[in-house]
Amino acid sequence: MVFDLNRFVRDCEQAGGELNCADYVSARLRYELSNPVSMTAALPQYDDEEVLLHADDNITIFLIQLSPNLKYPPHNHNMATTIALCSGTESAAYFRLRQGQPQATVTRIYTAGDMVFLPADVIHAVGNPGTERSVALHVYYGNLPVVHRSVWNSETGEALPFTDENYFRLAQPLDPNQAYTPPDQTQWAATQ
Ligand SMILES: [Fe+2]
Repeated sequence: MVFDLNRFVRDCEQAGGELNCADYVSARLRYELSNPVSMTAALPQYDDEEVLLHADDNITIFLIQLSPNLKYPPHNHNMATTIALCSGTESAAYFRLRQGQPQATVTRIYTAGDMVFLPADVIHAVGNPGTERSVALHVYYGNLPVVHRSVWNSETGEALPFTDENYFRLAQPLDPNQAYTPPDQTQWAATQ
């Protein structure tokens, strides 16, 4: 069956208040990812790196389309998350806090068809090591836009309140020797 984004969002919204919401969403994404090409074709394309599709007290859904050679700063969500990679490549560096500063533990590379569940205490930094924009759905089990959380400066280790301005300002090239375009996030600017 062809992936229907509106229906997916609606179904996730309905499941949002249920105890097994994360299980439902993860199983649904696993099913949809059996054909990542078809899933990608059914997703809209935006210039923005991150497009908020839905947010309420129970669930938040973002369409994430990262530009190549870009990495975002370490941050937390303070809620569990499921990431489904539909197209391209998304990297994730994981961190643990040592004396308040994020220390990298492992880095994983996700490709089309991959799905990962992140517990609520995860600190990660996503990026795109590929040559094309990545396409992913990120589903958070809570109201991500309003929750208090942190972003860390990769250079200094300084913790800052998570704001859209801090997050996009601290983005960097994955490879400083390759072409790099700072993220242009018009939706965020429009909503601030
Ligand atoms: Fe994240």
